[in-house]
Amino acid sequence: MLPIRGVAGRVDNSGPPTDQDAGAAPAHSDAGAVPAHSEAGAVPAPNGAAPPQPGQHNFVVAASRLPVDRTEGPDGEPEWRASPGGLVTALEPIMRAAGGAWIGWPGSPGDPPAPFDTNGMHLVSVGLSAAEVRDYYEGFCNATLWPLYHDVIVPPEFHREWWDAYVRVNRRYAEAVAAEAAEGATVWVHDYQLQLVPGMVRELRSDVRIGHFTHIPFPGYEIFAQLPWRKQIVRGLLGADLLGFQRQGDATNFLRASRRAAGLTTHGSYVWVPDTPVADDVGRRQRRTAQRNTGGRSVRAAAFPISIDTRGFGEIALRPEVQARAQEIREALGKPETVLLGVDRLDYTKGILHRLKAYGEVLNEGHLEPPGAVLVQVASPSRERVDHYKRLRDEVEGTVGRINGDFAEVGSPPVHYLHQSYPREEMAALYLAADVMLVTPLRDGMNLVAKEYVACRYDDTGALVLSEFTGAADELTGAFIVNPHDIDGLKEAIVRAATASPAEARRRMRSMRRRVLENDVAHWADTYLRALDQVPVHPSATPPPEDHVHEVPSANQAS
Ligand code: F6P
Repeated sequence: MLPIRGVAGRVDNSGPPTDQDAGAAPAHSDAGAVPAHSEAGAVPAPNGAAPPQPGQHNFVVAASRLPVDRTEGPDGEPEWRASPGGLVTALEPIMRAAGGAWIGWPGSPGDPPAPFDTNGMHLVSVGLSAAEVRDYYEGFCNATLWPLYHDVIVPPEFHREWWDAYVRVNRRYAEAVAAEAAEGATVWVHDYQLQLVPGMVRELRSDVRIGHFTHIPFPGYEIFAQLPWRKQIVRGLLGADLLGFQRQGDATNFLRASRRAAGLTTHGSYVWVPDTPVADDVGRRQRRTAQRNTGGRSVRAAAFPISIDTRGFGEIALRPEVQARAQEIREALGKPETVLLGVDRLDYTKGILHRLKAYGEVLNEGHLEPPGAVLVQVASPSRERVDHYKRLRDEVEGTVGRINGDFAEVGSPPVHYLHQSYPREEMAALYLAADVMLVTPLRDGMNLVAKEYVACRYDDTGALVLSEFTGAADELTGAFIVNPHDIDGLKEAIVRAATASPAEARRRMRSMRRRVLENDVAHWADTYLRALDQVPVHPSATPPPEDHVHEVPSANQAS
């Protein structure tokens, strides 16, 4: 087996769920529960809660997870190790300068650890009980929203008790934000797990500036409309002052959802959110007049394509020990002419089966021949207790087995499959070892692996095969762009990438490197936060201009 140094997956939530609670309300209790279909589409606050006192942090990030992983120290005691994600790399300097706080889940069920400081950041844990991990994280986040927002590649499930858990956990995050944020602070909420948090924070703390960034796609309205709680989600997000999305298409989909699901008016990239909600059952003209006669806020929805720590990756790739490791990997693979590489979370959105099918056919038709061509597929463990992920693992492993069974010689399988996660250094060595990188998602908000590969190719060699259904395809136009559903097209692109002339490969790689060097994650964060800073702090009383686009929701659209 290929001697690649793996580390344990980042989160240990693979054990069986227990009914042990994390000091939180039990998953199916009525405490703080919210009617599944609230009239105005807003999620009501629990009664009688005293308004929180301002906290001490001028910059507060709320994300699903903390930027640290819990590991076990030598004495068996839990230890926290920084997880070197792009988001934390970008935000750490800002957090340090602003005395920032980061609110997130430590990644396993049970009592949250007490707040602690690391690398100049104040980390505040939100605890999830085992039942909430099941209903909120595995359920509503990853078996309802995740498939719904990724074009229903697998059918989303809609369960009212999962929604209740989503509301309850979002409220817990919002309360933590409200307790940490200083007067007038900037709050940045991240992703699909926390879409109600902006609205809930605004109810608790109207003095703060609120941004939200969606890291995954925002679906077209015909798909989004399936969600029984679409109006609550739209209104939750509209608690923010600025809504960031990966692609312009995502922002446009959200603007349309604001009109169709919430009956609001939009103008360009702005949604007009009146202070007093207008009833759904009035006619178009009356609605427009009512909306113009009330004060309100304009919320901007726009694209801010995320990126990576380009220079950080580039520096790792230049280290002699990483380059030596890349050589070692090629030697361990049997010194093939062409190393192809796939690196993904083991997720059905990533198009791993499409890629394997195309590769199997390329081998079968003799366009590439093992042992001269070898595919390394890293599939890091993810959401392992969610049904569709379990099934996908079986299918991927069955397919790898079939390809190896058909084409392997003793000691040289055409696919090296690694169900593990690796540190950045090992990833950089793999990127350096790969002649062709295969990134073939069926739908992906951005896909940072594609950008990481480009960042590591400092000598302008290597080729990227990239799905048009990734956010990265908008920027990395030097890639061999494919529709992964078109297996013949995918096969052709794999062969073209593997046989491109050095001059063509260099020209393509240079243009992609220019782009990822210009738009790195620090630039992304800076651009977003500047845009958020430009939002007026106080609600505007100015009515929307006349030409606001407006779509009246039909009775069944307005739920
Ligand atoms: O944006 C998608 C995302 O939430 C990433 O932030 C994260 O790396 C990935 O999906 C996996 O998420 P999780 O392991 O928390 O389910």
